[in-house]
Amino acid sequence: MTPPLVAFRDVEKTFPNGVRALRGVTFVVRAGTCHAICGENGAGKSTLMKCLFGLETPDSGSILIDGRAVGPDHSPRAAAAAGIGMVHQHFSLVASLTVAENIVLGREPTHGPLIDRAAARAEVRRTATRFQLAVDPDAQVAGLSVAAQQKVEILKALARDVRLLILDEPTAVLTPQETAELFERLRHLRAEGLTIIFISHKLREVRALAEHVTVLREGRVVGDAPIGAISDDAIARLVMGREVRAARREVRHALGPEVLRVAALSMPAAAAADRLVDVSFVLHAGEILGVAGVEGNGQRGLVSVLSGLTRPASGQASLLGRDVWRMDTAALRRAGMGHLPADRFAQGGARTLSVADNAIGGEHRSPALGRWPLLSRWRVERRAATMVSAYDVRCRGPRALLGSLSGGNAQKLIAAREFAAEPKLLIADEPTRGIDIRAAAFIRTQIIALAERGSAVLLISADLDELLSLADRVLVLFGGRIAARLENGPSLTPEALGPYMLGLRTAA
Ligand SMILES: Nc1ncnc2c1ncn2[C@@H]1O[C@H](COP(=O)(O)OP(=O)(O)OP(=O)(O)O)[C@@H](O)[C@H]1O
Ligand SMILES: [Mg+2]
Repeated sequence: MTPPLVAFRDVEKTFPNGVRALRGVTFVVRAGTCHAICGENGAGKSTLMKCLFGLETPDSGSILIDGRAVGPDHSPRAAAAAGIGMVHQHFSLVASLTVAENIVLGREPTHGPLIDRAAARAEVRRTATRFQLAVDPDAQVAGLSVAAQQKVEILKALARDVRLLILDEPTAVLTPQETAELFERLRHLRAEGLTIIFISHKLREVRALAEHVTVLREGRVVGDAPIGAISDDAIARLVMGREVRAARREVRHALGPEVLRVAALSMPAAAAADRLVDVSFVLHAGEILGVAGVEGNGQRGLVSVLSGLTRPASGQASLLGRDVWRMDTAALRRAGMGHLPADRFAQGGARTLSVADNAIGGEHRSPALGRWPLLSRWRVERRAATMVSAYDVRCRGPRALLGSLSGGNAQKLIAAREFAAEPKLLIADEPTRGIDIRAAAFIRTQIIALAERGSAVLLISADLDELLSLADRVLVLFGGRIAARLENGPSLTPEALGPYMLGLRTAA
């Protein structure tokens, strides 16, 4: 019998900070299959994949590719030579370069001493056509939506001759439609013989794509089965070790005073934000207003205006009566705005700063933390430690660097910071993307609690189940306009939102 494409045998990995990320991991990945890996935030999924891809070295145990153990000199270069491509959980693209430059980075075609740009562009077009992933080779990465950046990441991995593609939470930043498209492509690639390792927190996706699933918990394999032999409930129990209850908003209180007023807002499409056309709405204290829409229909533009980053061409947005455009980020925070950005690493957190520094974020002028610039380290760390334990952020303590946390745990910390500030208005932009089932339920509960304490919440989410379980009212954006204003209730379903999201119907 041919050996499996990849075999992990007793793989152990302890980080220098003492975290035992992998404990005796043993399982195999068969060629030509799609193999899912599930597990809570911090379970060791990314670490295991980095070992396979040569970015981390296991302390002991072995990794076999085609039955041959990789050597101690295993590296991303060796992994690529063995036909392994990896799309990382956090984007590794260079924002200042074009799509084509990013894809060929490190192996640029040359013409004499110069980089052959035409050849690079042609190569990217060829690969894009072959895998049917439409990208513009000349676009600047900085100006692309997260979904488009994701496509570039995947193309970059596929552009080399790949037999095994590792996707570390590839759908965390995609809309349902984009996910469906990606899956279509992946099924196609698998039919052509590509082996796929797929990490996801979404069991529906795991079931739609994978033949086999391995569950990790605290660095150990706690489940390994063909997908047909295991139920979703059984996977969820293995992932979490216990059951979690879904958060749902049950009681609706009378509305408080007006917090946010958006009036006839219009904005042409800018590079980093999509256009808005005559958007008006009012958000009251104690209310959760959901914003639905296919990515790229005005959500980015709206957030960018509301957070004071972009000036609208016409119209107004005012927070408690003050024009947001006249305030900078610090002033907006003082005025009571909290912001959980969709791209938590680019905008929300600093990977090279400690957990404590990230946890206090914009609050470093708070008198409770000492007199600026003489912050009390002790108070800052104690405050951070409280957030860490309340939000179950798995880390080595307040001094750990944000960059050493697993993706989901870093997100939990940023969420903790924004909730702790008790904002009068919280802009929650995809608040549970990339977060495991338990932590997502916790964050949803916090959003409900915040509204119950009288905050206004603007909830932008591509996860329609999430939107409908939290929002009091739903706005649907299409082409930058409000296509529908809907009261939430038992009759409002994801399917009912579909026609508005696709621009087939309006109810505004
Ligand atoms: N470079 C590092 N230095 C120190 N500790 C690390 C480092 N990378 C990861 N860890 C720790 O190892 C453990 C496993 O992290 P890993 O990133 O593999 O989790 P994960 O399963 O991918 O989680 P997520 O779903 O949140 O992405 C975590 O406790 C994490 O904090
Ligand atoms: Mg990870």
